[in-house]
Order: sequence, then C-alpha cells, then structure tokens
Amino acid sequence: MKAIAYHDYGSPDVLKCEEIEKPIPGDDEVLIKVRAASVNPLDWRLMRGKPVFVRLMIGGLRKPKLTRPGVDVAGLVEAVGRNVTQLKPGDEVFGVCRGAFAEYACATEDKLALKPANISFEDAAAVPVAALTALQGLRDKGRIQRGHKVLVDGASGGVGTFAIQIAKSFGAEVTAVCSTRNVDKARSIGADHVIDYTLEDFTQSGQHYDLILAANAYHSIFDYRRALGRDGIYVLAGGGWAQILQGTLLGPLLSLIGSKKMCFFIAKVNKTDFVLLKDFLAAGKIVPVIDRRYPLSGVAEALRYLEEGHARGKVVITL
Ligand SMILES: NC(=O)c1ccc[n+]([C@@H]2O[C@H](COP(=O)([O-])OP(=O)(O)OC[C@H]3O[C@@H](n4cnc5c(N)ncnc54)[C@H](OP(=O)(O)O)[C@@H]3O)[C@@H](O)[C@H]2O)c1
Repeated sequence: MKAIAYHDYGSPDVLKCEEIEKPIPGDDEVLIKVRAASVNPLDWRLMRGKPVFVRLMIGGLRKPKLTRPGVDVAGLVEAVGRNVTQLKPGDEVFGVCRGAFAEYACATEDKLALKPANISFEDAAAVPVAALTALQGLRDKGRIQRGHKVLVDGASGGVGTFAIQIAKSFGAEVTAVCSTRNVDKARSIGADHVIDYTLEDFTQSGQHYDLILAANAYHSIFDYRRALGRDGIYVLAGGGWAQILQGTLLGPLLSLIGSKKMCFFIAKVNKTDFVLLKDFLAAGKIVPVIDRRYPLSGVAEALRYLEEGHARGKVVITL
C-alpha cells in the first residue's frame, strides 16, 4: 500500500510517499481502508521534532521513532482483531489512529466511532482531534454553562471553528477572535460577536468573559486574566511555546490567587466523546469547516500550508 513516512526530522520535504506492507490489525484493533484523513499541528510538530523536548516525549532523539504521520481518520472497516466486539467489516468509522496518511491504517476500537450515514468521510475526518479538544476544553476544563459569556481566541482554525459551534450548542454567548478575512465565516458558524484582532485587542477592551478558550493563544497569561470576569476560567489548548509555558507553569499558581482559574490541558482520546461528537455531527450541531483538500501525494503541501498558521478550519487529505 502507499503510505506517507519520514525518517529524519525536518521540514515537509522529509515526507516521502512509500510502498509498504499493508498493516495487520492486532487483537484489539481494526484495519481501516482510509477514505479521508485530516492534518493537525501535532503532525508538523512531530515531523519537525522541535523544540527538542518533543523528541524526548515521543522518543527518538536523533531520528524519529514515529515515522508515519497522521492521526485523524475516516474510512471503512476492512478487518477486525479477535477481541474487537463493537465493530465489523463494512462499518464506516472515524476517529484516531496511527499513520492515517496511508491507504490503510490500524486503530483500537475504543478510539473510533461509527460515522453518521449523512456525513461524508471528509467531514468525519475533520472532526477527531480538533473537535475533541474544543469539547473537552469548553465542557471539562471550562465548565461551560448556558448563558456563559465565552470567548474563543484563534477561532477560525481547526479547534476554534468547532469551539464556536460547540459553545453555541451549550447555550453560551460566543465571541470569536480572528483576522479580518474570517470575520464573516465566524459569524456564519454561530458566533454572536466577532473581534477582528487586526483592529482590536480584546484584552484591552474592558470586556469580561466567564470562559476564555485559547485555541491559539497569542497574548500573555496576564492579559487573558484581565479579560476574565469574577470566577472566570481561562483554558489554554494551544499557541506559541511562550504561552504554553506560561499556562503550564504560571496557570496553577495564578489560580491560587482570587477566584479566577487558569490552565493548560491536553485532550484525552476516548470513545464516549467520539460518540457524542458523532451525535453532534448527525444532528448538524457541528458542521466541519473545510478549508482545503489534498490528495495523499499532497500531504507535504498540506502540512506546509497548516504550518503557516492561517488555515480556515480544517485541511483534509482525500483518498
Ligand atoms: N492541547 C491539546 O490537546 C491540543 C489539541 C489539538 C491542538 N492543539 C493546539 O491548538 C492549537 C490550535 O490548533 P488548530 O488545529 O486550531 O490550529 P490551526 O488550524 O493551525 O489554527 C490556525 C488559526 O489560528 C488563527 N490565528 C493565527 N494568528 C492568530 C492571532 N494572532 N489571533 C487569533 N487567531 C490567530 C488563524 O486565524 P487567522 O487566519 O484569522 O489569523 C487560523 O485560523 C495548535 O497550537 C495545536 O498544536 C492542542
């Protein structure tokens, strides 16, 4: 089968399309014939292996141990391992796997959900990591409530476009922060208010929010703190390394002072949340925003585009 792989850290130039053996599913796994995948910043961060602690976390200080990029997947179950009970050949699924940028990939059944029949493989492949991050950031870390004033920073990317829609489905009043060209898109997917960050700095406006989800953080943690109302919660999902360091180190300390809470979090893959997202998809509560589509041979180009940091919604690989 054809699969994208890399054997050195570096720019998207390290990616090669290789002919390799079709994988055999383990006892707890299913073999998926991949119909679509989507790219995440995680893919280019692992490929770059920068900063070095990324290499320490995943192993492979000099050369990558994980050589097959791609986690978000949607496709058709072709075979199942002997312990798999909930899925069978022919099922249409979406979720998280290893090496999604390939003709076939294996995943454990607890990381997959059935794809709603009314949803395309491309739309389903756009969902897993980005929507899961938005859901868990808002619900679990942000304790979102009906009527909450929620601000999503980095609202027009993969995580942000899902965050707007999921926050609306929880009954929140949503403010989206994005650049000029994405203002209309943010409104069209449900944002009640949109702040164009090229014209206005929301951290200086005097407005206060019950919950700020930084899908992409570009301000200091102190600026976000200022924009929180009493008992407000700041949840950091991603952004620059400075913001992530601040969120990890200072977030817990600042949370000890007063009533505002601040944290960085990493989404946890689980079937229950994928099933919930499946229901959201089927009911039209979330409609993936797809910016660009590339063939398998275009993964390098797709990652190059995503790395520029201005994708509008998700970038999908179609097989
Ligand atoms: N913690 C976790 O578990 C987890 C999970 C998934 C992702 N992440 C991280 O979350 C971050 C977001 O992921 P993603 O998939 O949404 O990335 P993405 O799709 O690459 O995000 C791109 C978006 O960022 C926006 N952006 C760029 N500069 C901005 C600024 N100054 N202010 C506001 N928005 C700005 C862009 O909007 P404009 O074009 O309008 O500027 C663009 O739409 C990444 O750092 C990723 O690594 C974390």
